[in-house]
Amino acid sequence: MSEGFNMGFDAAAPDPETWDTAAPAAASHALPADGQSLSLRVSAITMVAETIRAIELVSRDGAPLPGFTAGAHINLKLPGGLSRSYSLTNGPETTDRYTIAVNRDVASRGGSAYIAEKLKPGDVLTVDPPHNTFPMVAGAELSAFFAGGIGITPVLAMIRHLERLGQPWKLFYAARNRASAAFVAELEALEVQIPGRVHFHFDDEAGKVMPLLKLAAGIPKAAHVYCCGPGKMIEIFKASAGWRPQDNVHVEHFAGTNARPTTAFTVVLKRQGKEFHVPAGESIMQVLMDNGIAVAHSCREGVCGTCETRVLEGVPDHKDNVLSPRERESNTLIMTCCSGAKTDRLVLDI
Ligand code: FES
Repeated sequence: MSEGFNMGFDAAAPDPETWDTAAPAAASHALPADGQSLSLRVSAITMVAETIRAIELVSRDGAPLPGFTAGAHINLKLPGGLSRSYSLTNGPETTDRYTIAVNRDVASRGGSAYIAEKLKPGDVLTVDPPHNTFPMVAGAELSAFFAGGIGITPVLAMIRHLERLGQPWKLFYAARNRASAAFVAELEALEVQIPGRVHFHFDDEAGKVMPLLKLAAGIPKAAHVYCCGPGKMIEIFKASAGWRPQDNVHVEHFAGTNARPTTAFTVVLKRQGKEFHVPAGESIMQVLMDNGIAVAHSCREGVCGTCETRVLEGVPDHKDNVLSPRERESNTLIMTCCSGAKTDRLVLDI
């Protein structure tokens, strides 16, 4: 199973009665302060649902933007030191712009509120290049997507890409109601072209949440299945997928697990020739930052993948929502913002 973060750090706690969710500002994947950030101009802002804005970003000089793969996200650097990540909704064929969709979250920690209330066409934003923690596998016999609320954003990029490739897909898209669902007209048009592949579920019309278990059971075993939505939806999706090859199951989370390591250890920075004590309950990232060592970060809760670091020796105690089971077992990667060590020493490629 591959797991990514979800573009939703502004997301409020999901409403347990609906698959819809507040806002998926993807966690921020901030690249190191190495000059890779982009300076992009907001070229358009369009409402695509009751509270969801599509934002289009272009380079200031018209130059092509760094490429990406379907499912990728970008991090926006917003005023007040905020860093927020949002999935790209355009397919990777588009090289002259990045498009994202941002829900105005009533429980916003600042990102979606700023975007809804202050951001306007012509504004210039600092943006980290695309990073993908939720990659799509092209060439599948079938790609089946389960999206809840703003979780449609990375899925839309995948669908657009699959359309370009001429490969089969199915979508099950749940939202609180029709008005809160984004990109409905585009999806309806795709359904008209080839009927039977777009399934909307509006809670208010159905009087219940989407019957995910039942729907997922009808997807062939050879398909690659994807889920992006609130935590409860992902839980049920995972429960529905136990019989599938785990490499065919892909999820992206809105939030971290809140779990933290409970044992102390020594972190060794191999390239820098330094080592530090990491107290129980403390993060590697915090210890390094306290000691003046810059660490790329954004969400700080194990969902964006920004702080991913290579492990050279030792066994990580993973607490993130980014790495797949296979990646965890390899003991070669760690998210330093939330994970710890099961061994006394952990040697990192820093
Ligand atoms: Fe987002 Fe660590 S900063 S996973």
